[in-house]
Amino acid sequence: MLINKMLNLGEEDCVFLAEESLEDLLWLPVTRNIVAEASDFDRAVAVNERSLALYSEAQDLWILLTDLYSESRPVMDLIKRMDCERVDLNADALFQAIVECLSVSLMEGVFCDNCEESGVPHYPEDRVSGLERMLKVLLEDALDDGSRVLEVGCGSGIGTMVLRSLGMNPWAMDIDRCEVCQGLRAGALDPRRTFVLDARLLPRFFSTESFDAVMGFMVGLIDDSNWHIWRDIIVKSSSLARNTVLYTVYSKREAERLADLLANLGWDGRIIDNSSATAVYDQWVYLGCKDISKSQ
Ligand SMILES: C[S@@+](CC[C@H](N)C(=O)[O-])C[C@H]1O[C@@H](n2cnc3c(N)ncnc32)[C@H](O)[C@@H]1O
Repeated sequence: MLINKMLNLGEEDCVFLAEESLEDLLWLPVTRNIVAEASDFDRAVAVNERSLALYSEAQDLWILLTDLYSESRPVMDLIKRMDCERVDLNADALFQAIVECLSVSLMEGVFCDNCEESGVPHYPEDRVSGLERMLKVLLEDALDDGSRVLEVGCGSGIGTMVLRSLGMNPWAMDIDRCEVCQGLRAGALDPRRTFVLDARLLPRFFSTESFDAVMGFMVGLIDDSNWHIWRDIIVKSSSLARNTVLYTVYSKREAERLADLLANLGWDGRIIDNSSATAVYDQWVYLGCKDISKSQ
């Protein structure tokens, strides 16, 4: 595990994250309790200014606290009061280690009392090959293997699998932890680059334009009743993209909604008719680009 390497621990050492989701890292419900009882621990390793690994000999485990993503700073205050060992890490590496910890716990069922999901998710071959063909053509000039890509609403990872087959190494996220768990277990999603979160909270973890491209496959279904939610998801997700956004949807009406919204946010976009007599998914595509020279 990345976190073990970063703390200079052995693979056999058990390290748990205090909180059980990225969203909880914003509010720190468990962390606050642990900070109140921190004197019970036998070793303390501060990771930079705002993260702390505490070791309990009795339980033979490490617990990692961080307030890096929160507006309050209980961990930072605790580090100032404690005599700690020190480790320096860059914030991206720490985020990746946290993401991996959460993915592994999710796959191991640590967060679930009982799991009613069974079997592997279905990745229809015709959809995979159709997406592959379409993305190859549309993204050829915009992205390369080294591009930083985020996929929102990844579900169990069918689009992520296609992006990986095209040589990219995308980050992927979804609000539904069962879908993500199935995708991780099936190997379609990478534990080090996949997380569960409401996309509307993405700007709390990533800065504006921190990805080259943001994509979402079959976002929606979008209709009048849920447009206010999807609008927010698309606005927040797209704000993280530097030069490309791509969303596939079921209907032309949905693509038009996205095009109107994103045009108002400065995206130069087009709608692509990808429909066919047999296809159900990804029938309409919105592809938006930004003139990078204007934003620099
Ligand atoms: C129609 S499914 C598409 C899944 C997958 N991309 C695919 O192409 O098969 C839409 C996905 O959006 C996810 N979703 C809905 N609201 C979300 C939100 N607020 N944040 C992140 N994902 C969300 C759902 O959980 C679901 O997995």
